[in-house]
Amino acid sequence: ATPQAAQEASGTGPATGLLARLRDQARARLDPVHWDFFEGGADGERAVAENEAAFRRLALLPRVLRGSGPARTTVDLPGAPDTLPVVVAPTAFHKLAHPAGEAATARAAAAAGAVLTTSMASTTAVGEVAAAARAVRPEAAVWFQLYLQPEPAVTRELVRRAEAAGCTALVVTVDSPVFGRRARDDRNRFHDLPPGYAAENMRDLPGGPPGSTRPIAMSPALSWADLAALRAATRLPVLVKGVLHPEDARIAVAEGVAGVVVSNHGGRQLDAAPAALEALPAVADAVAGRVPVLLDGGVRSGADVVTALALGATAVGVGRPVLWGLAADGERGAARVLAELREQTAHVLTLCGSADCAGVTRDQVVRRGGQA
Ligand code: FNR
Repeated sequence: ATPQAAQEASGTGPATGLLARLRDQARARLDPVHWDFFEGGADGERAVAENEAAFRRLALLPRVLRGSGPARTTVDLPGAPDTLPVVVAPTAFHKLAHPAGEAATARAAAAAGAVLTTSMASTTAVGEVAAAARAVRPEAAVWFQLYLQPEPAVTRELVRRAEAAGCTALVVTVDSPVFGRRARDDRNRFHDLPPGYAAENMRDLPGGPPGSTRPIAMSPALSWADLAALRAATRLPVLVKGVLHPEDARIAVAEGVAGVVVSNHGGRQLDAAPAALEALPAVADAVAGRVPVLLDGGVRSGADVVTALALGATAVGVGRPVLWGLAADGERGAARVLAELREQTAHVLTLCGSADCAGVTRDQVVRRGGQA
């Protein structure tokens, strides 16, 4: 057997089994330019590779004879009680993956009992996305991701739309003072949506002509004061996404955020950033259980989910795997990805001797070939 076949059979490695098959199908179906947009990262794509590699450097030490029974795989997150510890991370432009777009992703997440974080850069308006989720499961939780816009009136209008849609939390992405440089997109000259698609949340915002869409702005001038202004303008819990430094996590908690997402944006912003997983323990220590800590980047299996939980995450986010499922087979493909991760997570937790998502501990994570 080739090493890859052996890896697939053993169920270890970045994307194995079902996820790897859906990834291959997605690649075969998608326009290569759109595949590159979904799959690529910043500059030399080192941070992309590191996110997955960091998991492969680690192993789980099971505990035995603890009488824990089959593991329970739900956690409580802001605005999402009793939810899967696997959240759909915000990703842009789902209609480029599949014509059914974000509505299909929303139905898949709702069916799996997973939170959907819908991106500000979605090709379907947030109201329609949230309605699609609730049509499957009335209590389905949808979070709205946003970049704080330099014009406060624009940010406020986006928040108002998320609230009106029934979103139960806001996720403010803070790792993007400027847009990452994406070599693949530059090579492909992919800088705009094709005709017929638009970032629908950006339509009809203050200051633009009726019917027009505004470009999403990123600003290096934003500060904690802007986050405080956002918090004052909404009753929704606010999570910050894209924290890697433990001091920033400490500040975020002092500022009153409801959660911290450890993320290097799937390797699409600072290419020199460490793997999200490597930044997790120090952030978890800084947060010290005061609010939930989420991690995204490179999660490709239940073992990866459990490793992140053991290192201090309350839940993880998955970005590309959901896009693979969506591109391969629409709603059904995305649903299969989430169901597979749920089943693998329950299985690995049980094998590790844990009764629930909080029962795996840092001492159960060791470096392969040596000491923790
Ligand atoms: C993203 N990500 C992202 N994050 C965000 O806050 N807003 C966004 O609009 C997007 N868009 C986006 C598009 C695509 C194609 C990808 C791959 C990623 C980052 C995303 O939320 C998450 O941090 C990573 O995707 C996690 O890494 P994995 O699971 O893709 O390895």
